[in-house]
Amino acid sequence: MTRVIFISANGEDRQAVDAPAGAVLLDVAQAAGQPLEGTCEGQMACSTCHVIIEGDGFDRLARASEAEEDMLDLAAAATRTSRLSCQIILKPDIDSITVRIPGEFYNMQGV
Ligand code: FES
Repeated sequence: MTRVIFISANGEDRQAVDAPAGAVLLDVAQAAGQPLEGTCEGQMACSTCHVIIEGDGFDRLARASEAEEDMLDLAAAATRTSRLSCQIILKPDIDSITVRIPGEFYNMQGV
């Protein structure tokens, strides 16, 4: 089980959900109603599943592949700890992770 804490783009809303080991972060986010489109459904052909990992969680994740890095270069508002959530599998050794939704998405959703 991994506790995933989502932080909204404006930093005001937090939502904590428990995800089973082996879950894909994008699926967890979408099931929780977070505004990530994930248009290409994990094919690394969009970047609409872009999230920012907060705190030390980033270093505990498996490193991004080169293809993921390339796609992140195209993501709006990418930061040093940006990841594509469709590529993140929650391993049992990650007990919690904090994930921020990028501001650009927030605006695209008109919220
Ligand atoms: Fe398209 Fe992740 S869903 S790159």
